[in-house]
Order: sequence, then C-alpha cells, then structure tokens
Amino acid sequence: MTGLFDCFQRPINYLRISITDRCNQRCIYCMPPEGVLLSPHQDILTYEEIHTIVRAAAELGINKIRLTGGEPLLRSGVSELIKMIARIESVDDISLTTNGILLGQYAAELKSAGLRRVNVSLDTLKQAKFEFITRSDNNLSDVLQGIELARSVGLNPVKLNMVVMAGINDDEITDFAAKTISDDWHVRFIEFMPITSYDGVTSPFISVSDIKKRLEPLGKLEPCPPRVGNGPAKYYCLPGAKGSIGFITPVSEHFCFQCNRLRLTTDGKLRLCLLAEEAIDLKQPLRSGISLAELKKLIEKAVSSKPLRHYLAEGYLPKGQPFSKIGG
Ligand code: 5AD
Ligand code: SF4
Repeated sequence: MTGLFDCFQRPINYLRISITDRCNQRCIYCMPPEGVLLSPHQDILTYEEIHTIVRAAAELGINKIRLTGGEPLLRSGVSELIKMIARIESVDDISLTTNGILLGQYAAELKSAGLRRVNVSLDTLKQAKFEFITRSDNNLSDVLQGIELARSVGLNPVKLNMVVMAGINDDEITDFAAKTISDDWHVRFIEFMPITSYDGVTSPFISVSDIKKRLEPLGKLEPCPPRVGNGPAKYYCLPGAKGSIGFITPVSEHFCFQCNRLRLTTDGKLRLCLLAEEAIDLKQPLRSGISLAELKKLIEKAVSSKPLRHYLAEGYLPKGQPFSKIGG
C-alpha cells in the first residue's frame, strides 16, 4: 500500500492548518465572549515552517490542504502561503474556511494564488441575529457580498456552513434550504457540538434527523454525490435545485471510521483528532533543524497514534486548546 495510513488502516490524505488563532468574531458556539488566550507571536509557525511541514506531509501522501483559523484572512500574506503550497506538485486541493467578513476583499487574489475553493460560516440571514451569534457588530451584508464575489471569481463550490441551534437559528433551516433552489447555494447543516460553555439557551443541540423533518415540506431529498470535498458530509438535492444540501453529524452519528484528516495547530502541534488531546509538537524539532526525512518519520509516528474515534456523544470533551487554535 502506498500513501499514509493510521493503525486502523484509514488512509490519511487531508491536512487542516490553523494559521491564526485570532478572530474578528466571537461566535457563541466557538469562543467565550472574552475570546481566547492568543499565542505569542514567536509561538506561531511561520509560513516557511508551515510550508516545510506540508512538503513532508505531501511526500507521505497528504494531497488535500485546508487553511483555517481563527479567521485565516486576518493573517497577512495568506495568498503568499497559498502560492507556496500550490507549488508542491502532489497537493491537488487547497481550500480555506472563513467567516466571510474579509472574503470580498481577498477573493480574487486568493483565486489567482492557487486557492481552489472556500467554505463560509453562515448561520443566519438576519442582521440582528448575526450580531447575536457572532457577538460582533460586523455586517452580514459583507459576508453575503463576499460569497457572491468568491463564486464569481471561481472559488467553487462555495459551501455555506450553518451550525444549527434550537431556539436561535433553527427557524431559518427552510430559508437556507430554499436558497439551494433560488440561488444555487451549497448549504451544509452542522450539528452543534458542545465544546464551549454556552451563554444562550440551555441546550441548543438539534439533530440532523430533526433538521431533515423540518425540510419535508420542501420536497423529497434525493441523495447526490459530493461536488468536491474531503469530509464527512452527506449530500442531497431538493427537486429542481442546482445547489445542494449537506448534513454533518459530529454528535448523532460520528464519522470517525472514515476519518482521513490531521490538524496542524497555530503553534505547530500535529493534532490527530479534533476531539482528543493527543498532539505531537513539530515546532521545536523544526526550529532545532530537523531534516525533512526525520520530519516525515515524526509525522508517520504521530499518525500511527491517531485514535479510533471521539466520545462526544458519551459526554467526553477534550480539555486544553480551543477550536480557534486547532482549526475547527
Ligand atoms: N459546533 C459545530 N461546528 C462548529 N464550528 C465551530 N464550532 C462549532 C461547534 N461548537 C465549525 C462551524 C464554523 C466553523 C468555523 O467551525 O462550521 O462555521
Ligand atoms: Fe471566529 Fe469562526 Fe470561531 Fe466564529 S466560528 S469565532 S468566525 S473562528
């Protein structure tokens, strides 16, 4: 077998890289209102260091890269990093997850740097609710314009991620689904994961099977293949829709058995699972002059300790790093 496999024979070909832990929002499902303790500048991997890690990982079999944060577009020179990664021959998909606020500003240069597509967090179509969910006074219209611009420069498919929360935005499920018909949107409904102490309604969790029930009045959902993607979403189309609806069930039906991913944190730790604490430090070895061959061995060893699954449904939550450092 060629490529990178963990000890459960899962092929590992996807690396998500958190390039900054800073964010211009404080979404209620992601961060506490005061934000999180930011890593000091010297602890954050440089673009050169990230590039070296991607080179090593690519030689082992990683061919899909996603840049995340925090908000990745807050770090200056993202397009330069994308150009560096795009030059690595075996990397055939570079994508980015953003909250969309700065997307309009950067879409064209990201595309020409070699970015293939973007996912945008979009939890509501209403300004007041947007301010409540993001705990910011940002403009929803900036996100919507960013989405349109990203589509027009060809960062397709632009996937829109909605974390569904009972009593907060679940009244908009059908509005989002209708946009897959009227505007060809690719919407993904994501189950809320209870990773941060939440200061709104007591339990905003709503399962994908409940979300599907809410969609019944719009017609029968036909399964459709994913356009492109590396992830666990299951895709469907409504009658007459050019867009698609994806469902992501981290809580009600974990998809760990097909997990193909690794995560690199802002401060240079290779994290084997979003929801498990195990992480292997790559920054120190890199800064002590490790060779590419040794780095590859370190990554291989880390991959062999990837846990089988998470235990969120059983109530186990990892302590330690917030999502904004790990990359969500
Ligand atoms: N539950 C589900 N998804 C989350 N994300 C962040 N926090 C959570 C959570 N608690 C995902 C969302 C968001 C992206 C940045 O990370 O999809 O859009
Ligand atoms: Fe920022 Fe995204 Fe977290 Fe919201 S979900 S606080 S936009 S990193």
